[in-house]
Amino acid sequence: MGRTAVVILLLVFSSWRMTMGEGEGEGEGGGGGGSRRGLFILEKAEQVVRSEGGEVRVVKGFGFPEAWPEGWGWGLAGGRRGLMHIGFIAMEPNTLFVPHYLDSSLVIFVRRGDVKVGWIYKDALVERQLKMGDIIHIPSGSTFYMVNTGKGQRLQMICSIDASESLGWSPYQAFYVGGGTHPQSVLAGFDSATLAVAFNVTTEELHTLLRSRTAGPIVYVTGEAAERQPRRERDLDRRGEGGEEINGSWTWRKLLNGILGGKSNAEDKDKGKAVRSPDPYNLYDHDPDYRSKYGWTIALGEDDYHPLKHSDIGVYLVNLTAGSMLAPHVNPTATEYGVVLGGSGTIQVVFPNGTTAMNAEVAAGDVFWIPRYFPFCQIASLSGPLEFFGFTTSARRNRPQFLIGQSSVLRAMVGPELAAGFGVSEEQLRDVVEAQKESIILPSWPEKERRGGGRGEEELLLINKIAFA
Ligand SMILES: *[C@@H]1O[C@H](CO)[C@@H](O)[C@H](O)[C@H]1NC(C)=O
Ligand SMILES: *[C@@H]1O[C@H](CO)[C@@H](O)[C@H](O)[C@H]1NC(C)=O
Ligand SMILES: *[C@@H]1O[C@H](CO)[C@@H](O)[C@H](O)[C@H]1NC(C)=O
Ligand SMILES: *[C@@H]1O[C@H](CO)[C@@H](O)[C@H](O)[C@H]1NC(C)=O
Repeated sequence: MGRTAVVILLLVFSSWRMTMGEGEGEGEGGGGGGSRRGLFILEKAEQVVRSEGGEVRVVKGFGFPEAWPEGWGWGLAGGRRGLMHIGFIAMEPNTLFVPHYLDSSLVIFVRRGDVKVGWIYKDALVERQLKMGDIIHIPSGSTFYMVNTGKGQRLQMICSIDASESLGWSPYQAFYVGGGTHPQSVLAGFDSATLAVAFNVTTEELHTLLRSRTAGPIVYVTGEAAERQPRRERDLDRRGEGGEEINGSWTWRKLLNGILGGKSNAEDKDKGKAVRSPDPYNLYDHDPDYRSKYGWTIALGEDDYHPLKHSDIGVYLVNLTAGSMLAPHVNPTATEYGVVLGGSGTIQVVFPNGTTAMNAEVAAGDVFWIPRYFPFCQIASLSGPLEFFGFTTSARRNRPQFLIGQSSVLRAMVGPELAAGFGVSEEQLRDVVEAQKESIILPSWPEKERRGGGRGEEELLLINKIAFA
């Protein structure tokens, strides 16, 4: 039995070896940089995985703490719980991301391409074929692999890296389960006699497995690993029907239960119980939460997609038409991270004391973060739509509080109290606060000017005054 498991592994590993190239070296970040343009733009992309078949770049959350105003600490991001990095995974066609696990949980978004992801969910191997727009959650400590299944297509993914459970080695720590000499499998750290017994193979067989020359964490694959359709779930504990499947699951069982330990009781527990593993959630297949002719927004929380509950992370996607604005708003319960997917525009963020914290132009590829409670808005440039995507540090419905527009805090509060708060008459207040007929996504400036408006500035001043009086 152990022998056949090894044979399967060897098949996979030797096909990696057949591909040429080294892909050695850590390499310096290269790119992703640029000049600093604002306190809340995260500019340093660090290359954490470089390989012949692809790369992983990580933009660390919070950017440059040393650049923050005096006395501001990690609390700005809601403490360690709000610590999140944004990862960019790129894989060439016909490549495999070697099985490994992380000290951080991931929420992966497929930006472009097709990918087969296999991971261990409740002691079973789960495989899912993902397409553009899909969201999937990989828990920390869960071994997973990814295969680019897009024909001749480069695969791009964006993920949140929730570092709140991390060991503290930033930005995250990977433990390779698969891997020969590079990356080195964690199995290689065991005494070979111990491993031989655990695997029930000879040390020679073992060495073939662990000393094979591999070309980095993301490698080219051919044959079965590249082409096989996703399997059905395979319980680590069930040695059920169907030859190939049993052998495969034996491999995983050996690796995870036998060697890494921790799940030794799993064999008796849950026996024969089918594992219901989560399907991906496709952002583009669902109706937006809000849509008008000026754009749309989608927010995904644990109520929409329960796996998000485990990592307590929310996902959002916004598309603004040219010139439109996501009205000034506040996240009362979460810090927000965003990636500009397409187009260009401006992001404005306000300090608690009512001064401008940032007024930065952004374009595709830029990463930003907005601390909890800080008022901010995004505005698409007049040249085209602005599309951005991101994560929030809470999976519970993070209800943004809009400050301006029909469904805003100010609008709801119009009355003598608010007027007195601004030191104006109620009529003056209504003139300003009730002029905007749209909510959430507001039309572009030119349209307003045609109406003789141009009230945005005035309103913004009012906002600052009232919100932080
Ligand atoms: C080890 O492998 C041999 C065959 O090579 C088999 O007979 C034996 O049952 C195996 N032992 C265990 C504990 O799997
Ligand atoms: C899987 O194991 C069975 C014996 O349990 C064997 O007959 C079969 O050939 C193996 N399949 C593969 C693909 O190695
Ligand atoms: C965003 O909106 C524009 C039109 O305003 C549209 O052309 C584009 O396809 C949209 N993007 C997505 C991802 O739906
Ligand atoms: C407002 O707060 C920011 C951040 O604490 C500080 O840098 C700035 O000097 C303050 N401005 C005023 C006018 O108080």
